[in-house]
Amino acid sequence: MKDIYILAIETSCDETSVAIVKNGHECMALTILSQMDIHASFGGVVPEIASRLHTENITMVLDETLKKANMDFNDIDAFAVTNAPGLLGSLLVGLECAKTLSFIYNKPLITVNHLAGHIYANNLANNLNFPLLALIVSGGHTELIIMEGDYKFKKLGETLDDAIGESYDKVARVLDMPYPGGPNVEKLALKGKPSYELNLPMKNDSYNFSFSGLKSNVINLVHNEIQRGNKIKKEDLACSFQTIAIKEITNKVDLALKNYSEIKNMLIAGGVSANKYLRSEIEKVTNKYNVNLSMPKFIYCTDNAAMIGAAAYPLYLNKKFSSLDISVKSHESLV
Ligand code: KG4
Ligand code: ZN
Repeated sequence: MKDIYILAIETSCDETSVAIVKNGHECMALTILSQMDIHASFGGVVPEIASRLHTENITMVLDETLKKANMDFNDIDAFAVTNAPGLLGSLLVGLECAKTLSFIYNKPLITVNHLAGHIYANNLANNLNFPLLALIVSGGHTELIIMEGDYKFKKLGETLDDAIGESYDKVARVLDMPYPGGPNVEKLALKGKPSYELNLPMKNDSYNFSFSGLKSNVINLVHNEIQRGNKIKKEDLACSFQTIAIKEITNKVDLALKNYSEIKNMLIAGGVSANKYLRSEIEKVTNKYNVNLSMPKFIYCTDNAAMIGAAAYPLYLNKKFSSLDISVKSHESLV
């Protein structure tokens, strides 16, 4: 069979990214232009600034990616793009770009759900083996999903309030660390001990998560200590938070693997899956149940276009193309 090259675009939040992916598994070239430094001064992503920067940069990122792969648009078999969920203005820039390319070069347009992208990032290292349990842990989502096959999603549970990445970012802020907080909290936690007593959010037997109580627990603790004139051991607080946040995740993964004993494959996906403590704690659970664990390479954990190219491939094979009148959506669940 002829090799299939998909050019993919991801602009759902604050990364302008383009990739060329061969046969859904091999990344030929990837460019990620992060706007992080600009948003950091505001303490989080400013949607209006994000979409303007995508508009300014998308052409340059496209050119650079083609150059890296030593290819031109005529070598491309389809154009893929994230159209949901995300920031509307940001998504629009990517979608309009992909539509234009699809129209000019007369090649299919494939629209991809951002969360499917995070899941299929695992296909850039391994092959997804079904049935599998997928854990999505990102800045906007925390979900446990069962997949019976390509694009056959069944939701087991999700966060009832904040996403885990969001709680890392808020805890980082109260500890005076810049956005995005996740990697900074992880680094700080490495130097500390879990000496602060924080409450485990969900003690029941559902597959749902909760992080907003834990986040408030940390924020209140910091404020109380400041009012009393006490010094906070930031390393210990970061470590205490991370220990409980990840425990909240592993408890539910353990429950799912126990109850769905026929599932022998698991994957993790999304920005927080770059966290080494999360990786090692999940590995303990999958080892306990003799389950194969797939983890994306670090570069494919946070937002990038290669994962969109990988997720577009099964859609390409099934001719699930989009028409040029498709639009963007700020919310769209997988199931
Ligand atoms: O998947 P992603 O790039 O964007 C969304 O789709 O949301 O995830 C970004 C989130 C941020 O909240 C960031 O703080 C978190 O992932 N993150 C981490 C780590 N790296 C990124 N959280 C904990 N530990 C990390 N190493
Ligand atoms: Zn993401």
